[in-house]
Amino acid sequence: MRYAILGGSFNPIHMGHLFLADAALSAFGYDRIILVPAYSSPFKPGAQGASARDRLDMLIASVPADARITIEDCEIRREGVSYTIDTIKDIRERYRPEGKPGLILGDDLARDFHKWRDADEIVSLTDIIIAHRLSAEDMPFPYPHKRLDNEIVELSSGNVRDRIGSGDAWSYLIPPGARFIIEDRALYGLSKQDTARPVIEVSRELIAGIENAVRSMISPSRFLHSRNVALLTQDLCKRYGGRFSMDPASGYLAGIAHDMCKSLPEAELVRLTRKDGKPITKLEKKKPTLLHARAAAVLLRERFNMHNKDILEAIRLHTMADTEMGPLAKALFIADKIEVSREHLSSALRDNRNFDDLDALFAAVLEETVAYLRSRSLTLSKGTLRLLDLIKGGSFEKNKG
Ligand SMILES: [Fe+2]
Ligand SMILES: [Fe+2]
Repeated sequence: MRYAILGGSFNPIHMGHLFLADAALSAFGYDRIILVPAYSSPFKPGAQGASARDRLDMLIASVPADARITIEDCEIRREGVSYTIDTIKDIRERYRPEGKPGLILGDDLARDFHKWRDADEIVSLTDIIIAHRLSAEDMPFPYPHKRLDNEIVELSSGNVRDRIGSGDAWSYLIPPGARFIIEDRALYGLSKQDTARPVIEVSRELIAGIENAVRSMISPSRFLHSRNVALLTQDLCKRYGGRFSMDPASGYLAGIAHDMCKSLPEAELVRLTRKDGKPITKLEKKKPTLLHARAAAVLLRERFNMHNKDILEAIRLHTMADTEMGPLAKALFIADKIEVSREHLSSALRDNRNFDDLDALFAAVLEETVAYLRSRSLTLSKGTLRLLDLIKGGSFEKNKG
């Protein structure tokens, strides 16, 4: 396999680094780029804001599922000042590359390359690739090398750090995985206030993985519906979560996943649903597409190892309201019915300033939903009818929570 090495502080990794790796891959036909974060650079000792572990974690989180990029932590494991010659020898020994590995250097580093430890030996062991970082002109470089004719990305780690520290926009300058780590760990002077959230039971990496899977399972318009439902469920958890414990991240995940089985064939819906241990009702037999809710709860548990009871319950009950619904299930049910692409219910329900209470909003949504279903002579589930009786009889108050 042909490798090229791209070293750096990656403090933090940003889109410019990944663009450079990608450009080198396509220009010279390497099979894989090895990103090597320095423990401490001889030129930037004591880099501030993030530990070696943070920087390594950010790199790993930034390139999920990209088989063209690998991450090598030898410099961090060695500790101390990182010298490129040591890394090259180590990589040659362990990776056994086909031919000389490439060594990608920005023209900002090329100027002082002659000062690097064992510069001549580096030149003899690698194919040096000079990339544009500072100047579109070819800066002189008095050693054998190739030139990468890349566009300059006007972005540096220092610039990203400054932006974070001063509260300027920065989130989309770096890969999402790295961003989540910066936010979760409040790196680079990010104020704790910006990151304050309820305890996260569901990590954003998990959500991102499930979101990607769901996107490939349903149509783009169904996915947009799901994403709107996710945002709305999250908002409802924030707004009404004071009285109940409703985790906004769980709300988002429930929304993203609730319709993941919507495009599966009916036989598959039945096969999955049988695994939840409850009988399939007469109504569900008559209309198996209703099972997409129960099937999604099973799939989320089986494929994604999700065992959060509130999330699974919310997804399971989103087509058929039932008296056993907890607050998260109610929030998802509401969001699914009033999301902006839905036209069955009155849009006044979207303005939740009209409702101080989650249960009041839920009751209003349920009543309108039932009226809509009746107007089209559609069958109501037993659970929905029980719930409606409860709301109408005024005993709903006792049952909530
Ligand atoms: Fe649904
Ligand atoms: Fe839906």
